[in-house]
Amino acid sequence: MKIDVLLGLQWGDEGKGKGVDLLTPNYDVITRFQGGPNAGHSLEFHGKKHVLHLIPSGIFHDSINLIGNGVVIDPVRFRTEIENLQKLGVDPFKKLLISRKAHLILPTHRILDAAIEEAKGKEKIGSTLRGIGPTYRDKIGRDGLRVGDIETIDFKTKYEKLKAKHELLLNQYNFSYDIAKDEEEWMDSLEFMKRFELVNSEYRINEYMEKDKKILAEGAQGSLLDVDFGSYPFVTSSNTTIGGACTGMGIAPQAIGNVIGIVKAYCTRVGSGPFPSELHDEAGQQLRDQCAEYGSTTGRPRRCGWLDLVALKYVVMLNGVTEIILTKADVLDEFETIKICTSYMINGKETSELPFDINAKIEPVYSTLKGWNTQIKHMRKKEELPAEFNEYLKFIENYVKVPVSIVSVGPDRNASIYMR
Ligand code: GDP
Ligand code: IMO
Ligand code: MG
Repeated sequence: MKIDVLLGLQWGDEGKGKGVDLLTPNYDVITRFQGGPNAGHSLEFHGKKHVLHLIPSGIFHDSINLIGNGVVIDPVRFRTEIENLQKLGVDPFKKLLISRKAHLILPTHRILDAAIEEAKGKEKIGSTLRGIGPTYRDKIGRDGLRVGDIETIDFKTKYEKLKAKHELLLNQYNFSYDIAKDEEEWMDSLEFMKRFELVNSEYRINEYMEKDKKILAEGAQGSLLDVDFGSYPFVTSSNTTIGGACTGMGIAPQAIGNVIGIVKAYCTRVGSGPFPSELHDEAGQQLRDQCAEYGSTTGRPRRCGWLDLVALKYVVMLNGVTEIILTKADVLDEFETIKICTSYMINGKETSELPFDINAKIEPVYSTLKGWNTQIKHMRKKEELPAEFNEYLKFIENYVKVPVSIVSVGPDRNASIYMR
């Protein structure tokens, strides 16, 4: 059985948590394959909202949940998340597996993240300060510590060696820190993590496939934050696009089945970097007011703008997206007109390609569609959807040449309309 992959197609926060939670009843195994606690995936059911950072969003169901080798784990955040789940009556010990090859975020990785960001001043990335960049840097630089290392006798030595390297690096920055308490908590949390089943996940996942288990891989961040294809350097430090699913789990490309792209009906971005269709006017504030666009991980206000089909088509191409889940359509319920960016003007030339130069001055070219001015947030069947909404949907499908399979009209599991 092939593995389906769900990916965010914008700058993150597209509604991946809700999407995975909604689809999990069709799957036996849910996996994460990249990113770490920079992610904040919300899901809502029975009137309660839950936010997950490291744990796959299938945890509220009976499926197996696997944290793959491509993920970076902060044991302290992991423990907090598990304890919160336990308070809700979920028993994660029975259904959560962790790859031995996943890398560990050390307390000093977090400090380095903060020191590096501070030193960048105005050019800061706007990182989530979870230690993501420094941890992936050590992974690629062949210095990292992995989950499997905690089972080895010389773990402490390996830890001290990496910490010493970090302390040397930190000397370059005028940044004060004190890790004594953090370190103790980190070590305790590692012991806690050892109580979970640590696995050679590449074997495990391929065994699941041989046994015809249905697997859904849950992307984190979004394709426009990909370290190769996003607006570098204003990106995260992992491959959020489809290749990351292969390397982050240990599966062959031909093992991939459906690629489910999740897209907001408009765009948001947290942190710095280009955002061609960003709104600085009343419409931007109206979007933010209506959808409470504040980060699930850091609480920062999200920058808001119109849907950008140039960027969307680019990532549909990169990922081989086979279907789209459109989320937050209800947020546009009260707009008289809705704009969609269909090309860019750069130096007086119209183009439908993303430029290499992130400093290029992009003038978005918009098509204006009639709003539906109806509360689709109360609708549950495709037959109920207003004509203007169907026009809007058709416009997107025609442009990106991928069908929309589900329209999400609210944060709750049930606020979902199946289009096929
Ligand atoms: P993720 O990181 O992709 O999982 O997305 P986040 O959880 O960070 O942000 C999405 C936000 O939108 C969360 O607060 C969700 O509860 C909420 N949400 C998801 N789908 C919908 C929807 O269709 N309508 C509305 N109004 N909110 C939604
Ligand atoms: P989910 O999975 C939105 C952004 C940060 C910053 C940049 C680099 O919830 O969609 P990092 O901490 O990764 O070094 O930050 O990436 N970023 C996200 N933005 N949603 C996320 O995750 C993000 N994870 C990182 O704001 O601009
Ligand atoms: Mg999020």
